[in-house]
Amino acid sequence: MQLKNKKILVGISGSIAAYKAAHLVRLFVKNGAQVKVVLTPNATGFVTPLTLSTLSKNPVHSVLFNSETGEWTNHVELALWADLMLIAPLSASTLSKMADGQSDNLLLTTYLSAKCPVIVAPAMDLDMYKHPSVLANLQKLRDNGNQVIPAEKGELASGLDGEGRMAEPEHILEFVKDFFAGTQTWAGKKVLITAGPTYEPIDPVRYIGNRSSGKMGIHLADTLAARGAEVVLVCGPSRIRQEYDSIQRIDVETAVQMFEAVTARAADMDCIICAAAVADYGVENPATQKIKKDGQIPEIKLVKNPDILAWCGANRKKGTIVAGFALETDNEEENARKKLEKKQADLIVLNSLNDPGAGFESDTNKITIFGKEERRADFPLAPKNKIAELIVNTLEKWFIQ
Ligand code: PMT
Repeated sequence: MQLKNKKILVGISGSIAAYKAAHLVRLFVKNGAQVKVVLTPNATGFVTPLTLSTLSKNPVHSVLFNSETGEWTNHVELALWADLMLIAPLSASTLSKMADGQSDNLLLTTYLSAKCPVIVAPAMDLDMYKHPSVLANLQKLRDNGNQVIPAEKGELASGLDGEGRMAEPEHILEFVKDFFAGTQTWAGKKVLITAGPTYEPIDPVRYIGNRSSGKMGIHLADTLAARGAEVVLVCGPSRIRQEYDSIQRIDVETAVQMFEAVTARAADMDCIICAAAVADYGVENPATQKIKKDGQIPEIKLVKNPDILAWCGANRKKGTIVAGFALETDNEEENARKKLEKKQADLIVLNSLNDPGAGFESDTNKITIFGKEERRADFPLAPKNKIAELIVNTLEKWFIQ
């Protein structure tokens, strides 16, 4: 299952080779990928949405705006969902619109919004494929960072024989597998991630905690495991499970337990990311028996917990990247930058509780990343799995490449 957990958005444009895209979708699904399909209006004449939704096990989208229902398809969401957008077959017409930055259908708007890599597999008649304008458009796509799977030789729909057939689905599958194998940018690297809340016991049934679900940190763990890292996840109480079996998960409850789990392993790590919402204070002497309500109102004395991120910043081995989060409610940028400095981190991810859909519990987040020397990267609201990718992309860009 080389494509397990990979999210592939297949774009199909109007070409007779569209029938082969149905087989390709099946191959991707058989290899463990999650597949969604976008068709151009012309493609629906060659292959039906029903066939593709049955094979992909997902709804298929072909219109940007449905005038009957008044609904529109969120192309930004589709593009953000994907790890890879593959346009196969790519017709000469869609190619020229892509090269030109046009956006008059759903496939094109999705392409323009894609933050993931894009691979195209052209299909057209042999003379069209050789035409200087087509060659120039393909080059333009390459220059824009897209990858092209060259068309193959053989019998064409026109009856002519030559180069222009869309690469066979099995060949496209191999190309895509190789592509994902090449994304193992963290192979050989060890990463430790803290996630979730901590619970500070008051007595055997009560605790001081917070609303962190663990989602953000666990998505980071999955993203790094997908890119080949050896990941240790030190996780406070959370019901969320990681997708990758390769992740070593250490479940802890209190800040002190989290601190011990991290400090015991930090020396081995190439990168440490503190995404946990660690309680700053614990209870000095938690009661050993349940506190009864008929006694005196209890006084709970709090004690300061160790700061895990600050410890990692101060005690890292040479070359270890240390990243943290800042969850703010006011003076966001100023506070985030202060944390970057005070905790000696290389990077701080700011999420603000003032941004709707950001922070605790939600499936989305909105972040700004700060680094030393005034480095800064802003990102729009996106699902937390995508945010995790954007954070890892930034780590790669700033520290690894
Ligand atoms: O888990 P989710 O529901 O998905 O929510 C994600 C999140 C909002 C918890 C996450 O994105 C986030 O912001 N995590 C950090 C929350 C936090 O405690 O922020 P802070 O500003 O108080 O702490 C700053 C940094 O120091 C953080 O990296 C924190 O992990 C670290 N810290 C804080 C205190 C402490 N004792 N030890 C620490 O390591």
